[in-house]
Amino acid sequence: MSIAKIDTIGSIEDLRRVAEKRLPKIFYDYADSGAGTESTYKANEAAFAQIKLRQKVGVNVEARKLSTQILGAESKLPVVLSPVGLLGMQHGDGEILAAQAAEEFGVPFTLSTMSICSIEEVKAKVKNPFWFQLYVMRDREFLARLLDRAEKAGCPTLVLTMDLPVMGVRPKDVNNGLAVPPRFSVCTAANLLRHYGWWRSIVETSRRSFGNLKGEIKNISDPRSLAAWTAEQFDPTVTWETVKQIRDKWKGKLIVKGIMNADDAAQAVNAGADGILVSNHGGRQLDGTIASLAALPEVVKAVGDKTEVYLDGGVRTGVDILRAKALGAKAVFVGRAYTYGLGAYGKDGVTKALSILQTELDNALALCGKTDVNELNTSVFYDGTYPTA
Ligand SMILES: Cc1cc2nc3c(=O)[nH]c(=O)nc-3n(C[C@H](O)[C@H](O)[C@H](O)COP(=O)(O)O)c2cc1C
Repeated sequence: MSIAKIDTIGSIEDLRRVAEKRLPKIFYDYADSGAGTESTYKANEAAFAQIKLRQKVGVNVEARKLSTQILGAESKLPVVLSPVGLLGMQHGDGEILAAQAAEEFGVPFTLSTMSICSIEEVKAKVKNPFWFQLYVMRDREFLARLLDRAEKAGCPTLVLTMDLPVMGVRPKDVNNGLAVPPRFSVCTAANLLRHYGWWRSIVETSRRSFGNLKGEIKNISDPRSLAAWTAEQFDPTVTWETVKQIRDKWKGKLIVKGIMNADDAAQAVNAGADGILVSNHGGRQLDGTIASLAALPEVVKAVGDKTEVYLDGGVRTGVDILRAKALGAKAVFVGRAYTYGLGAYGKDGVTKALSILQTELDNALALCGKTDVNELNTSVFYDGTYPTA
């Protein structure tokens, strides 16, 4: 199978196409899919395209600024790498590679609870602190140990995911029998073996299971399905009280992820959040809910003067970042954009994804006649309007 050379890659869509070729179907589908009919997954991307920009000429745009302060720390771009589970199945040691690429580029990386490489394994391979994402587990002692491990690893920021009290229904994962370790049908096994580049990256590492859970959850080495495990451990009883308890225990910054309306945003601020991530989990949870971009203005209006507000879901271009910044997002988180890069080319692919977003954002800023990404507002929109649902 011939894979395009990385220097011929010009967009995130190009990276997606290479990832589709390079990855076994089970893991490509895992990334490129949403819940149910995928209506929300598609709506996330479509919402960006609805916003038309106002081209502006005759302005000196030579000195342009893309860097942003995120929770008091300088980031080269208004971009954070979202927590993505099982990155180590997109490419061997995927979490380590993505964390290193983010560190070298100068943007934060968020390690998922459901990572293949553990907190300690990532910590051992990077110089600077990374962020940690927490799912609330029924086993609160395990949860407390996870928080201690993240603190010990020097993670400055905890991203607490609230939109997974139950796991979304994802038909493609059901079709493919996604399990950890994977439950191979003959077809799946044949498909895995056909993808030699991916296969080699996986056999070259010993990390092939949930790194943070090894030795913590009983029988985790058994080939039980991901769905069965999550049904047992993800906690549907989580309330704002739980958030307050976590806030009391966690000494670092706290971002609450999965906020899609003003009421929840106010609750999160009340519970002590330092930042709010407007997110519908990339369309992987509630199929039929609105695009995250459509929820952004409501949340910014409600709490934007009290806390930093970020957005994720559907960001595929630097132009999308400009649109989100203009609507009041302090930064965007990106999930699939870098996951495709990782699946396509490993660490170099993550760097490529970030540099594509950087070039496109810089370019769009200049062509809108603007020089500072932090001073954008809706005046860059062609008619000043944007989608509300
Ligand atoms: C394959 C995949 C796995 C994900 N795993 C997690 C996870 O472990 N924890 C979490 O909070 N969010 C997870 N998410 C959601 C992302 O953090 C983020 O909200 C979403 O990807 C943003 O949408 P985008 O992919 O369109 O950028 C996952 C998303 C994808 C695509």
